[in-house]
Amino acid sequence: MNFKAYIRDIPDFPKPGIVFKDITPLLLDPAALDAAVAALAAWARPLNVDLVVAAEARGFILGGALARELGVGFVPARKPGKLPGETVSAEYILEYGVDALEMHADALEGGARVLLHDDLLATGGTARALVDLVQGRGAVVAGFGFLVELAFLNGRSTLDGIDVQTLIAYSGE
Ligand code: PRP
Ligand code: MG
Repeated sequence: MNFKAYIRDIPDFPKPGIVFKDITPLLLDPAALDAAVAALAAWARPLNVDLVVAAEARGFILGGALARELGVGFVPARKPGKLPGETVSAEYILEYGVDALEMHADALEGGARVLLHDDLLATGGTARALVDLVQGRGAVVAGFGFLVELAFLNGRSTLDGIDVQTLIAYSGE
């Protein structure tokens, strides 16, 4: 399937000069949605993971579907202050300031094999925070699957040594 045909460019969002890659047309189309989940699951199945961990918010959309498809559990990595139990946290740098992702401290067994997912790899800040969270609990990152990669931002360089899969890559803006 030509997944790129289901990604819409929105110029000047969220601010002037940025072209936003909108995945909602892909989500809206049942065949494209199914094919995207199936393709990521086909790549991930041989990794034999115990869990899927995904980043709030857009990572939750396919992350849950992916866990269901692989027959494993799902762990949400949430924006600060959202999880009710004891949490662990990893910070990442934004253009202005820092943000963080949190995970329940007891969500991962040490040694668990984990598939990470987010909708999009841009600078890699969010992805790196997810890796740090999971590895910080003694779990193993078996792979990181994305729907979209903005390759010109070189986010992959933050994920050295990790098995990365993306369904759609853009080499330029
Ligand atoms: C977007 C996107 C990725 C992240 C990628 O999330 O969903 O998570 O940016 O950018 P990076 O590689 O430069 O970190 P955003 O923080 O906008 O929030 P959302 O998922 O809650 O919409
Ligand atoms: Mg996000």
